[in-house]
Amino acid sequence: MTTRKSSLAHASAAAALVAFAAVAQAQVKVGVVMTYTGVGAEFGQQIDRGIQMFIKLNPDAFGSCKVELIKRDSKKPDGAEAKTAVQELIAQDKVDLLTGFVYSPDAITTAPLATAGNKPMVIMNAGTAWITNLSPMVARVSFSMWHAGYSMGEAAAKVVKAKTAVVGYTDYPPGKDSLEAFKQGFESAGGKVIDEIPMGGPGQVPDFTPFFQRAKDKKPDVFFVFVPAGDHAVGVVKTYAALGMRQAGIKLIGPGDITQDTKLQSMGTDAVGLVTMHHYHADLDNPQNKRLVAAWKKEYGADATPDFMGVQGYDGMAAIAHVVRTLNCKIDPAKAMDALKGWKYDSPRGPIMIDPKTRDVVMNEYLSELVMKDGRLYQRPIGTTNAVKDMCKELGAGKCK
Ligand code: PHB
Repeated sequence: MTTRKSSLAHASAAAALVAFAAVAQAQVKVGVVMTYTGVGAEFGQQIDRGIQMFIKLNPDAFGSCKVELIKRDSKKPDGAEAKTAVQELIAQDKVDLLTGFVYSPDAITTAPLATAGNKPMVIMNAGTAWITNLSPMVARVSFSMWHAGYSMGEAAAKVVKAKTAVVGYTDYPPGKDSLEAFKQGFESAGGKVIDEIPMGGPGQVPDFTPFFQRAKDKKPDVFFVFVPAGDHAVGVVKTYAALGMRQAGIKLIGPGDITQDTKLQSMGTDAVGLVTMHHYHADLDNPQNKRLVAAWKKEYGADATPDFMGVQGYDGMAAIAHVVRTLNCKIDPAKAMDALKGWKYDSPRGPIMIDPKTRDVVMNEYLSELVMKDGRLYQRPIGTTNAVKDMCKELGAGKCK
């Protein structure tokens, strides 16, 4: 197996060539669209590393097929650059499959192109629930905002025993979706959302102070926050501490985006006590995850860690390998979608499956509390809900009807 990357690998017109096996059959071209620069650059790097880790740890997964990864930078989280990239990947590069898609707007603007161009699209992050309804060519290995949002809503009422909540969210599709998901889960279990606060966009980290002060003034039992991970999450934890919200008796809860592993240790004691629901964190105790974390540290350094995006890149590549192998290196789009439907995998996040009906992922959700252990922040497990589906589509809520 050989791996070759163009020197332009992280530029907009970048292409990376990854060839598997000495005796190649047909070549499969995969267009990878991710934020390699700008506010989401670390996400692109993290998912890329997940892709590379899968290739490294599973050298035989692609059989005798030769796979070329053609990478494009979607730059800003507004979908515009992603649209151009996908148009070029389909019309000029003539890719067989599309993957990546960090931000929801990138997937929302490009899903219709996957339909028009008849290209299977494997989403490695973008979490707005209804994205999978936009095209029969979309399958998602990452998550829907409802996986963690709805489950956290139920747990906030039943486990945390909260009666009232304020929701703060980044004001774009996955944020609105996360609000709706949490609200339905929480209120169906007897809680009441008493304020909903839009908190700026994904393109830059806002000053969270006025939003958090508004939440504090409402005196809720819990403050549920969704931000798109990264530096937004660091800002959330710092502002929560600076305003003395914990001392005021308000618990900070959210999806695991606010405790992303790659940012976690830099949050320090401010993050102790945070309760989150998510499909992955690096402390998960299973053999597949232990193997991935050890290999990741060996490859990228002792302080490096996979996070939920990294594992989604890993699993996305596993799904693509499954398609490529099943179709014997010749990608027929309809057969590729059939191969994705019902696909099962023993992931570092636990068992996952692509629901044949919705083409969305089915997976475990883990409820955890952050504690300090041996000088580092550690995700103490509280409970697991097995085989969670996207509740937006299950309930036929809002745009998922
Ligand atoms: C999204 O845009 O769908 C998105 C981005 C970052 C996250 C979660 C969702 O952490």
